[in-house]
Amino acid sequence: MLRINVAGKMTKTGKETEDQTRAGYSPEFLAHALTPQNVGLMSDPDGYGAPQGECGDMMEIGLRVRGDLIDNIAFITDGCAFTVACGSVVTTMVKGRTVAAALEIKPEDIIGALGGLPPEHEHCARLAVDTLRLAVKDYLKNRSAPWKK
Ligand code: FES
Repeated sequence: MLRINVAGKMTKTGKETEDQTRAGYSPEFLAHALTPQNVGLMSDPDGYGAPQGECGDMMEIGLRVRGDLIDNIAFITDGCAFTVACGSVVTTMVKGRTVAAALEIKPEDIIGALGGLPPEHEHCARLAVDTLRLAVKDYLKNRSAPWKK
């Protein structure tokens, strides 16, 4: 089971730091940070994005589209607990929605869904949104020129 330590990195142990992390965060943040949704690497996605955030951490998103709906989506990150929560939220927000709707999501939407983020971690929401946009744009590029995939 993944654990999130105070510094915000995923670890396989770290029970002692989980209790410290619980203090002062919204239930929404804790739910997404401690039991993130849609974690994983997708093989042969229709769209893929893997940018590096301003802090140097990375996120990867792969998605599958059926019709015009995002049918499946998965993310991984080597970033902090805030980034894990942001990746979880952004993937749950767009699963089952249209590609166009996914492009409308803003970092403020992620921050609001998590009940706020510390100002020094708002860039984690930007990384999640940037990764989603790259994956959607990759899908749109592949759809318009499938021979290039
Ligand atoms: Fe690097 Fe959160 S601190 S993405």
